[in-house]
Amino acid sequence: MQARFARLFLIAAVAALPLTQTFQASAASADVRAEEKEKSELGKLMGQINKHMKSLKKNIEDAAQKESNVKDFGGIAELADKCKAHAPETAKTDEEKKTYADMLGQMAATAKDGAKAAGAGDVEGAKKAYEALKKGKADGHKKFIPADK
Ligand code: HEM
Repeated sequence: MQARFARLFLIAAVAALPLTQTFQASAASADVRAEEKEKSELGKLMGQINKHMKSLKKNIEDAAQKESNVKDFGGIAELADKCKAHAPETAKTDEEKKTYADMLGQMAATAKDGAKAAGAGDVEGAKKAYEALKKGKADGHKKFIPADK
């Protein structure tokens, strides 16, 4: 009788194993999701810059959207200045920190040029600034975001 009970218990335990593994796996992926959600201050500012860039992408060629373009470039200039105070962990040495701050300073200056051009109805000038910002993003990310991120 006892042996039969033990056998039954063993079968039930083995049957339940995949279930516990599933629970563990989903708990682990919930942890990963929570980690992903927790953005750094720099990540938050970058996210806001990204929204302005998306808006520019949509409106940059449209002279009727001049005011919106001026606002987006202005927003990027302000946010880039704020980013300066949040050097990423990947900028370790003083030299790297300076490079980071310089790149953000360049980004703010380019965005101000873009705002001026857009305000003057100079679509070509505004597009040039937009492209320069995209290039600055690519360069900055290549330098300061680890390849596996
Ligand atoms: C138009 C210019 C740029 C745009 C649209 C942009 C956009 C973004 C976006 C969307 C993220 C991910 C944020 C998140 O979801 O966590 C990010 C992260 C980051 N960006 Fe940029 N970026 C720009 C320029 C730059 C520049 C110039 C640099 C450095 C010189 C830079 C350095 C970084 C770093 C280090 C992160 C990682 C932040 C973190 O995870 O803590 N970005 N950026």
